[in-house]
Amino acid sequence: MKHETSHTLIGPFCQVLTMAGLPEVGPIADEQLEVIENGGVLMFEGQIVLVGDYQKLLNIAKEEQYTLHKIDQPMVLLPGLVDAHTHICFAGSRANDYAMRVAGKSYLEIARSGGGILDSVRKTREATLVELVELLKKRCDRHLAEGVTTCEVKSGYGLTTEEEIKMLEAIQLVNKHHSLELIPTCLAAHMRPPEHTDSRLYLLEVLSHLLPQIKEQGLANRVDIFIEETAFNEEESLEYLIAAKELGFEITVHADQFSTGGSRIAAEAGAISADHLEASGEAEIALMKQSGVVATVLPGASLGLGMHYAPARKMLDGGLCLAIATDWNPGSAPMGDLLMQAALLGAAEKLTVAETLAGITVRAAKALNLTDRGTIEKGKLADLIAFPTDNYKEILYQQGKLKPAQVWKLGMEV
Ligand code: NIG
Ligand code: FE
Repeated sequence: MKHETSHTLIGPFCQVLTMAGLPEVGPIADEQLEVIENGGVLMFEGQIVLVGDYQKLLNIAKEEQYTLHKIDQPMVLLPGLVDAHTHICFAGSRANDYAMRVAGKSYLEIARSGGGILDSVRKTREATLVELVELLKKRCDRHLAEGVTTCEVKSGYGLTTEEEIKMLEAIQLVNKHHSLELIPTCLAAHMRPPEHTDSRLYLLEVLSHLLPQIKEQGLANRVDIFIEETAFNEEESLEYLIAAKELGFEITVHADQFSTGGSRIAAEAGAISADHLEASGEAEIALMKQSGVVATVLPGASLGLGMHYAPARKMLDGGLCLAIATDWNPGSAPMGDLLMQAALLGAAEKLTVAETLAGITVRAAKALNLTDRGTIEKGKLADLIAFPTDNYKEILYQQGKLKPAQVWKLGMEV
């Protein structure tokens, strides 16, 4: 990926909200946020070199012949947003599912009339690699413009070795040429494909054929599974996750969306994160806490399905690291607006501004096991976004309608 090759100073910003020095888990008060008034950031080769008072940085910059990038509007600077859970590599629309769902049709009725995840599987299989690349690229353009500088993307609409590889290759191709950095995840265990009658045998095939090939081609180092009655059961999921881990993959889980069980498996398998968690209660929160699993909640899926949100407040009070992601997908979460969804969740769950912003920056990076981003600090990636306001509290207050005016990925304005 391209990055800034000369020393550059950007600023002055009314506020630089560094998101640095915050606790990794549990509640955060707004008073704990580091806010640098009239701040600036010095960057070099895609990394942050210094952050602090703009005047002081300007003096250094003048001595050292830095390029100056003057900001002449009132702006607040934040770390680039991290969307830790998406399914944005897909073809086709599920608008018909939506219409049936809001007309009161059940999951089964929708599936029987040709809708559901398998509909997206059909359409994604029909798409060529080039078509998938084009579709994914468009979604990346929008995400980047809205301030997302790192985005996880899952496969899972292929469900054969060949089709899963096609999806992951599309993700890899877009990643090579797009400024939005993509973190690929293999979700071959999204659903049992129609060609198989036995889900355990399907998972064994994924383990023996697909995952080794993914490793060899360097297409992903994360593996995900959807644990739910309608997808994979707890026992076969645990076996699969342990085996995937032995092959060298990091583990994440679609857990507790409709019924509990998945988060326990995530904890037992040593997953980095458990995602969804709408059904989680105190016992599940305690288990995730014990094993250090990041709780990634997906308000977009709650909005799309007309369900209640995951208990984010209880998760923070129970000492969890809370990340917030879009789950952007053609079925349950077509909106894909991270800032808006985080703001809506924050209002409903009474999250502090600090907790919500941490959930889409530093704590979302933790959900992806990335330690090089999510804060504005010396040595971190120069992934930065500037909002046209003089008060960081405006950002969530405006419920996601205030978008960044400027976005930098690895120090390059995009
Ligand atoms: O995260 N829960 C399972 N999978 C996706 C939905 C994907 C789809 O409906 O296409 C989710 O919500
Ligand atoms: Fe998902």
